[in-house]
Amino acid sequence: MPHYEPWSEERARTVIAEFAHLEGPLMPMLHAIQETFGHVPDAIVPMLAEHLNISRAEVHGVVTFYHDFRHEPAGRHVLKICRAEACQAAGGDALAEHAEHKLGCKLGETTADGRVTVEPIYCLGLCATAPSAMLDGKIVARLNERRLDTLIAEAQS
Ligand code: FES
Repeated sequence: MPHYEPWSEERARTVIAEFAHLEGPLMPMLHAIQETFGHVPDAIVPMLAEHLNISRAEVHGVVTFYHDFRHEPAGRHVLKICRAEACQAAGGDALAEHAEHKLGCKLGETTADGRVTVEPIYCLGLCATAPSAMLDGKIVARLNERRLDTLIAEAQS
């Protein structure tokens, strides 16, 4: 289970500083912020804009363009279901619907009890063994309804 730190502006500044030497540091900074806090809080937008000398709109545009960036804190477990082509062709649509039905929330949302966030992901590099999913960073290939139920039960425990 991922363990995230509570939001802290001071901690965010140290995370940003780690990537300041890179060329094109915005994406690595955003990923590091999400890995640290579990999401990309709105408060980081002006901080990054100031640090990188770009507009807030530019930072906001990048944060909202990429599906990977979460805007709210995640649940205790994060289930990502692949929604890219190969997985769709292998029955991914039905599996995504099944997960939504079982969890009582849509992709991109967290269950009411805060236990599980279910999100789309766009290719896990396992197209040959599609459909695929990932629970808390652990990849599962050749997904079917039964295996998905097992993953969901694990996430809800
Ligand atoms: S399309 Fe799902 S793993 Fe590549």
